[in-house]
Order: sequence, then structure tokens, then C-alpha cells
Amino acid sequence: MSQRTFSIIKPDAVRKGYTGAILAEIEKAGFQIVAVKKQSISKDEAKGFYHVHRERPFFDALTTFMSSGPIVLLVLEKDNAIADLRKLMGATNPANAEEGTIRKKYAGSIEENAIHGSDAEETAAFEIGYWFAGYELL
Ligand code: CMP
Repeated sequence: MSQRTFSIIKPDAVRKGYTGAILAEIEKAGFQIVAVKKQSISKDEAKGFYHVHRERPFFDALTTFMSSGPIVLLVLEKDNAIADLRKLMGATNPANAEEGTIRKKYAGSIEENAIHGSDAEETAAFEIGYWFAGYELL
């Protein structure tokens, strides 16, 4: 069944000029781009987005990194979108990512790992609603 997920092309990948290549991988894998916008976010916005990680030791570094430069926010749709995007992204740590995955090709480290994707339906709903208004989701 058709499903929506949320994704971010992170500041490291945008800085290195990988935005187009990553979008092409996403489309080639059969995702429709429902909504896309490039913007810089504040540290507070990053903290709100990643609030589930607020007790983790990497929370401060993660939110500093995510607010360090422009990112690309995406809403994507296809059958089984959440699981399929995570498969396409590869493991969180690019050192463990499978050949052919986005993180294997474009990520430098577990902190600067090129792309984010929602991990479940509830998180996808929260994450889409955090960054996009209803009128942006045609
Ligand atoms: P993401 O899918 O965006 O969700 C949380 C992010 O925290 C994760 O990707 C990683 O980039 C980042 N992160 C940094 N350090 C760690 C760590 N030790 N374990 C898990 N995630 C980490």
C-alpha cells in the first residue's frame, strides 16, 4: 500500500554537492517526491525534531551539525516507503552500510551520514508535520 515517509539530505551531503545525486537515487528507487524544500534550520528547531534523542550523548553534536548549513527536507511516497527508504539509505554508520546504499556512497561518518529517514509510521507522521504544512503536501 502506498505510504509516505520523511527524509532529510543532511548538511554534509548538501555541502559536498550530493543533493542532485541523492535525489536521483531516490527517484530511481521508485519514490515520488511529494514535497521538497531546502532551508537552514536553527539549533532549537533541530532539538525539537530530534527530541527522542535528547538524553543521548550525541544530542548536542547532532543538533549543532544539523543546524550547520542548509538541508533538504523531503516527503516521499511509494509502496512500503518507510522500510524501502531505510534499505536504500543503508546502516546509520556508513562503515556498516551495504554496497550500493546512499550512506555507503555519500556518507563520511556516523555523525555526518548524509541522509535521514523516518523509522516508523508514527515518527513519519510527526516528522512530516514538524516541517511541512498541509497545503504543501499535494
Ligand atoms: P538519524 O537517522 O538522523 O537519527 C539520529 C542521528 O544521530 C543518526 O541519524 C546519526 O547521524 C546521529 N548519531 C550520531 N552519533 C550517533 C550514535 N553514536 N548512534 C546513533 N546515531 C548517532
